[in-house]
Amino acid sequence: MKIAFFDSGVGGLSVLHHAMKVLPHEQFVFFADEDNVPYGTKSKQQVRDFVAEAFDFLMTKDVKAIVTACNTATSVAVAEMRRRYDIPIIGMEPAAKKALDMDGEHRVLVTATPITVKGRKMELLIEKVDKDHLVDRLALPGLVEFAERQEFESQAVTDYLTSQFAPFDFSEYSALVLGCTHFNYFKDTMRKLLPDNVQFVDGNEGTVRELIRRLKERNQLEQNRPSVEYYYSGRLVEEDTELSRLQNYLKRLEKMYRI
Ligand code: SIN
Repeated sequence: MKIAFFDSGVGGLSVLHHAMKVLPHEQFVFFADEDNVPYGTKSKQQVRDFVAEAFDFLMTKDVKAIVTACNTATSVAVAEMRRRYDIPIIGMEPAAKKALDMDGEHRVLVTATPITVKGRKMELLIEKVDKDHLVDRLALPGLVEFAERQEFESQAVTDYLTSQFAPFDFSEYSALVLGCTHFNYFKDTMRKLLPDNVQFVDGNEGTVRELIRRLKERNQLEQNRPSVEYYYSGRLVEEDTELSRLQNYLKRLEKMYRI
């Protein structure tokens, strides 16, 4: 059986990329909801409807687990999906705890989409882990659009980040949490704008670790010939131009994330 990775768009490829490294004998299905991206600026109900439709589709693909490699979808829709389906459904959680545990004295900036930043799930997470009130939050919806256009290092990206970061004194921060999988593509660009004391923390490793734990528990890790099937909103990606678009993202990840 296969493991599905789901995202509003191409951000989830960063989590799939990590999974392909640590689970080299599994078969994957990747679903990017390209007809509806971005999710982070839509209403919660719209996102719930998109996710329900995507999961119904994925359940027809003989999958043994679904990784919701999208923080926004996790924030508003994963609980309902877990009630609905009897397979492991793994979500993304902004790695605020990990970032606080790494230092514990300096501030931490959690970046995500507007829905995730304002969501109930985020409130609960901060209440639980941020006892010393060290966490600040910042929505960066523009990065989702830049990522979808494969625009990672342009002047427009630099200008956008520079203006969004302007209110923060980064000498007081030890970490920036990438709380949207689309943001993982901008680590290198952000590195040039932020001082060295700021480390980047993403949720990829923790999510894949949880996937492995859940599959082991069910004795469902396999030794298959590896493969990945890509879907854009339920349509199999077959055209060379579309496949090479996806390959470009994977190449960027390969350069940035050495595992
Ligand atoms: C978006 O579609 O706005 C980004 C989704 C995410 O949070 O990863």
